[in-house]
Amino acid sequence: MIVLKTNRELSLMREACRVAAGALRVAGEAVEPGVTTGEIDSIARKYIEKHGAIPTFYHYNGYPATACISINDEVIHGIPSNKRVIKAGDLVSIDLGATLHGYVGDNAATFAAGDISPEAKRLSDTTRESLYEGIKAAVAGGRIGDIGFAISRYCEDRGFSVVRDYTGHGVGTQMHEDPSVPNFGTPGRGVRLLPGMTIAIEPMINLGTADVRKMSDGWTIKTRDGKLSAHFEHTIAITPDGPKILTVE
Ligand code: MF3
Ligand code: CO
Repeated sequence: MIVLKTNRELSLMREACRVAAGALRVAGEAVEPGVTTGEIDSIARKYIEKHGAIPTFYHYNGYPATACISINDEVIHGIPSNKRVIKAGDLVSIDLGATLHGYVGDNAATFAAGDISPEAKRLSDTTRESLYEGIKAAVAGGRIGDIGFAISRYCEDRGFSVVRDYTGHGVGTQMHEDPSVPNFGTPGRGVRLLPGMTIAIEPMINLGTADVRKMSDGWTIKTRDGKLSAHFEHTIAITPDGPKILTVE
């Protein structure tokens, strides 16, 4: 069931999303060689709590942390640890959510630790740009397939592959609501986009194969070929005036 949000609900969501965006910013600013992913997680948790919000991911299906921090060939759902030290050249994807007034803001971004390879930079830049291509396509009267088509065309034209096993999603009082928002699709197909819909668009883009596998920790998703992956996500609202990004400060 797709829940359309009233303007009042959208302004509450905006506050949750603002906190999520700030937490992602401070977490990203902390990414540098020598820092552990556990330290970054606690920076994010403290920011969220200081702003009166709750880390959405913590205890979600038993998840043990505030953020997912996924390095290099890790695509999503990497579990932060005080033993995991970030190295120069690492590509570090951070995904986190904040719940405020009962509404969820969900966002992610990929950060460079020190100097990264030109191909890592190109992958990360392309993934970020593809998120904005997807957002541009999220207009009332359009269809879900328009979003995924825009993202996949942008990335595949540049030689990258789109992860198909995980998708974006509706978001509201729950982190995961209908509809599912794949990063691939056919224009004009799928659920109709309507004003009041709030969705998380989150391209997960790989340098090599699109195939992924889950690690034995039960969470971490890696590329099957061990090549790099990047991930960017915004929570947005579909409005009569076009898509509005909610996860900004
Ligand atoms: N942020 C992820 C998403 O965008 C979900 C994280 S799973 C969790 O859908 F268990 F870590 F919360
Ligand atoms: Co999400």
